[in-house]
Amino acid sequence: MPGSTTGARPRCAIVGTGARAGMSVRALIEDHAGTAELVALCDVNPLRMDVHNRWIVAAGHHPLPTYPAGDLTAMLATERVDALIVASVELEVVESDHVSPGNAGDLKGAAIAGVDGTPEQGRTSLTLRRFWEPPVELPLPERPRTGHGGADARMTAVLMGAEKDPLDRSATARDGGLALLTGLAANRSMATGGSVRVADLLELTRTE
Ligand SMILES: NC(=O)c1ccc[n+]([C@@H]2O[C@H](COP(=O)([O-])OP(=O)(O)OC[C@H]3O[C@@H](n4cnc5c(N)ncnc54)[C@H](O)[C@@H]3O)[C@@H](O)[C@H]2O)c1
Repeated sequence: MPGSTTGARPRCAIVGTGARAGMSVRALIEDHAGTAELVALCDVNPLRMDVHNRWIVAAGHHPLPTYPAGDLTAMLATERVDALIVASVELEVVESDHVSPGNAGDLKGAAIAGVDGTPEQGRTSLTLRRFWEPPVELPLPERPRTGHGGADARMTAVLMGAEKDPLDRSATARDGGLALLTGLAANRSMATGGSVRVADLLELTRTE
């Protein structure tokens, strides 16, 4: 962290106020409040910043000024930021949902994914957002616009042994067991009101 421009505690701001940011916020307002100061938050989503501010206030502190992502540069100047903690996303993946023809009229109007495109224009994109660089759209191969439906052609081809998944994503019996254990843990947690560790339910030693 660079030294403060004022000689006081370095003034820190956070861009991207999601899950990871919580750790930095806590460190700044509690554990290391004596040596660093959190002065502002920045995010594309104001609700995220509000959530952080709610618990900052609940912890007995003043709410922090919040800035939309487009005002990042202004924030740095206005809040005299010495150090910026970046906890935003680096990669944006968009995949339009599939709307079945039967339900499309009720749910999304007349447009149907795979035929006319959904109201959001049925698109797939992959945007790489490297820090301090303009976003880059990554090229994606053409793919069929059919729905998954629980058993699409690519899935059944691998499942029935006609093809091998080049990305080796097939779940094993152990993966299935782990998924079931998650549900079991949730049920026990709801019944007891306590937290449940999956490892306490069953010892699953790796067999593959
Ligand atoms: N979750 C983890 O365990 C973990 C561990 C190590 C590293 N990371 C990295 O930390 C970063 C944040 O992860 P997270 O789990 O907190 O994600 P998150 O989705 O919970 O939070 C990301 C936040 O960034 C905001 N954001 C997105 N684009 C933005 C932009 N252009 N400008 C400003 N804000 C923007 C989002 O609105 C969101 O509030 C990611 O780059 C991730 O790869 C996460």
